[in-house]
Amino acid sequence: MMQHFTCWADVPQPLELLASAKALKQNPWADEGLGKHRTLGLIFFNPSLRTRLSTQKAAYNLGMQVIAMDINEQGWKIETQDGAIMNGDKAEHIKDAVGVMGQYCDIIGVRTFATLSDQEQDYQDFTLEQFKKYAGVPIVSLESAIRHPLQSLADWLTIEEHKTRPRPKVVLTWAPHPKALPQAVANSFAEWMQNTDYEFVITHPEGYELAEEFSQNVQIEYDQNKAFENADFIYAKNWSNYKNYGKVLNQDMNWTVSAQKMQLTNQAKFMHCLPVRRNVVVMDEVIDGSHSIILPQAQNRVFSAQAVLKALLQR
Ligand code: CP
Repeated sequence: MMQHFTCWADVPQPLELLASAKALKQNPWADEGLGKHRTLGLIFFNPSLRTRLSTQKAAYNLGMQVIAMDINEQGWKIETQDGAIMNGDKAEHIKDAVGVMGQYCDIIGVRTFATLSDQEQDYQDFTLEQFKKYAGVPIVSLESAIRHPLQSLADWLTIEEHKTRPRPKVVLTWAPHPKALPQAVANSFAEWMQNTDYEFVITHPEGYELAEEFSQNVQIEYDQNKAFENADFIYAKNWSNYKNYGKVLNQDMNWTVSAQKMQLTNQAKFMHCLPVRRNVVVMDEVIDGSHSIILPQAQNRVFSAQAVLKALLQR
């Protein structure tokens, strides 16, 4: 039985969860009575478009009520240190805030990005763990410091729907970006893909290795052109440096996904979790082309969230 949804290991039967997402896509209102009189809280420490809207829609499809809060803008300033003497500008301790949220909600979703300055805190997933510890209700990660499992489940569903051979080659490619981004989407995608029977390859410039816990069993190819050969899916994503934590050390536009690079593939489908920097991460001709599946991928966010909420409501 699933207690929380924060990573692959939280899911006792991943194939069942995938099948549930597929079934809900065929009949989104099949369980519209399941969430009656149940409340989903959506707490955002960071911005969101897709996760917020898709999770809200998923909850409505199950008949749930939703309350959402941008906590940094709408809440009291939060203290996170245990034992802090709270005589500064922080009015509320995280353990009290989260404990109270648990009184109002049957399930809580929380988005909390990496600091990109404190690697130890980020890789302990500090804020997410505080929610698990103090809420007293199931927690759904809406993207944490190190993972984005709702995105990964939607990505898995999308690949299943679009694959043209049983064991497709799936390539996660690093791409340039002007700003420092977390590693969460890449980490999570690697975690989920490793647990499928797909051929999975990550390509990135040397030095951009993901944390060992996410990459140790993955085929790494530093030559992007070579990685693209015979690929069925190209998943582009930037991440900032893990070793030199949170730094942007490379903005090489040779890593941008272009039509020329896509020609090396097996007519690969193009994927990105969005939001995306056009003509930096990927050229317009690719993302607007007939092999781009970014919109079906985004649509599947609803059914991945709905499958997760359904499983948590049934526990
Ligand atoms: N892909 C994704 O999580 O998008 P948002 O940050 O807009 O939610």
